[in-house]
Amino acid sequence: MSPTINTAIDLPCGARLSNRLCKTAMTEGLADPMNRATPELETLYRRWSLGGAGLLITGNVPCDRLHPERPGNVAIDGNGGIEELRAYAKAGTTAGNHLWMQITHAGRQAPKSVNPHPLAPSAVPLDMIGDGFGAPREATEAEILDIIRRFTHAAVVARETGFTGIQVHGAHGYLISQFLSPLANRRTDAWGGSLENRARLALEVVRSIRAQVGSDFPISIKLNSADFQKNGFSNDEAGQVARWLEAAGVDLIELSGGTYEQPVMLGAGKEGEAAQPARESTRRREAYFLEYAALIKPLVKIPVMVTGGFRTLAGMNNALASGATDVIGLARPFCTDPEVANKLLAGSPDRIDAYELSLKLGADAPVEDSPPGTRAQVETFGVLGWFCLQNIFLGRGLEPDTSMSVWEAFNRYGENEAQTVARLIRSTTAA
Ligand SMILES: Cc1cc2nc3c(=O)[nH]c(=O)nc-3n(C[C@H](O)[C@H](O)[C@H](O)COP(=O)(O)O)c2cc1C
Repeated sequence: MSPTINTAIDLPCGARLSNRLCKTAMTEGLADPMNRATPELETLYRRWSLGGAGLLITGNVPCDRLHPERPGNVAIDGNGGIEELRAYAKAGTTAGNHLWMQITHAGRQAPKSVNPHPLAPSAVPLDMIGDGFGAPREATEAEILDIIRRFTHAAVVARETGFTGIQVHGAHGYLISQFLSPLANRRTDAWGGSLENRARLALEVVRSIRAQVGSDFPISIKLNSADFQKNGFSNDEAGQVARWLEAAGVDLIELSGGTYEQPVMLGAGKEGEAAQPARESTRRREAYFLEYAALIKPLVKIPVMVTGGFRTLAGMNNALASGATDVIGLARPFCTDPEVANKLLAGSPDRIDAYELSLKLGADAPVEDSPPGTRAQVETFGVLGWFCLQNIFLGRGLEPDTSMSVWEAFNRYGENEAQTVARLIRSTTAA
């Protein structure tokens, strides 16, 4: 019989997920100034734990505080906060679900306010409007080895503090994804050039973590099914990397797509750049990456999760029945309805929140489209801010505020000192 979202699934390491629904990683911006977990995170994750998903994945947790995704990230970097992590893990597993920590290093996508010269595979700056990101510096081999050690340390701390697994962030244009990309990685040493070399960092990180956490601890990786950029990391390459990751000891591969330069993971992105998921028709279609995942899935035996755009019960169960995915990753619906998984598992409603389809930067936003693309970029960050703010409200014990406009969210998000990325873009684009 075909699996449905209600069917449990066993992972190669022996762990069992009680159902096929996962709340995927969403940055929370709720850490304290030392990047330690806070009571707000406990409240947020307790609510999500009681919400029914078999698997919760934390927002990204940098293994180097000089390379965060934003200043409000929880980080594991010799910054203390062990008891806070324990409390966070305990709250996030209240209902007996799995809670995996997503470990990351932002590389050149670290905000300039934190690091004006972040490490990256090569000194290739991001192609973005505004002044949010600094000029990256090519990492030395010693620095690459240090990054592997940092990822491993964070995974060990995750295990020790009660997280029930980890996920390596290898997608969305962060450091590991930069190494995979022939556009961002121009190295000529053992860490660049051929696919084998570009994938070396991902594989070494996974191998090193596996050696330290043991064989019974779930290790996942989030990987782009493609970057959807001309001459970027391709769908074929993702298939090969998935095979290598399986051999390196990964239990579950989450497939997404895109980068900051091409944010198709959120259904946005520039048209015409080898970017099918950015097309309006695809954006409106359920599950942005399912057809790309379907080409990767037969190449591996380990479970695969596809994330991005799932919004109907039928769409989710059909995707499971088709064999293109084993687990359904959902993010934004959890921001406006922490109970969404319980509702889906009970079979009603069939259609869940999809605010991203109607959220637009309105006429209230005094943002010139100069240079062209500025409004689209502000809209992407404004909508992201809208969802982030809902999670912040949930963490404060409040209810979501769906009446907020995108422009209001952009500004309120910018007010939070943790949301520097949005603030920097606003300062360079507002009229
Ligand atoms: C507010 C917000 C924060 C996000 N933060 C992360 C993150 O920290 N790590 C990550 O891998 N993906 C992150 N994502 C992407 C989601 O995990 C997911 O891939 C994306 O939202 C598509 O799924 P959805 O259509 O169900 O929302 C974030 C998305 C949103 C909306």
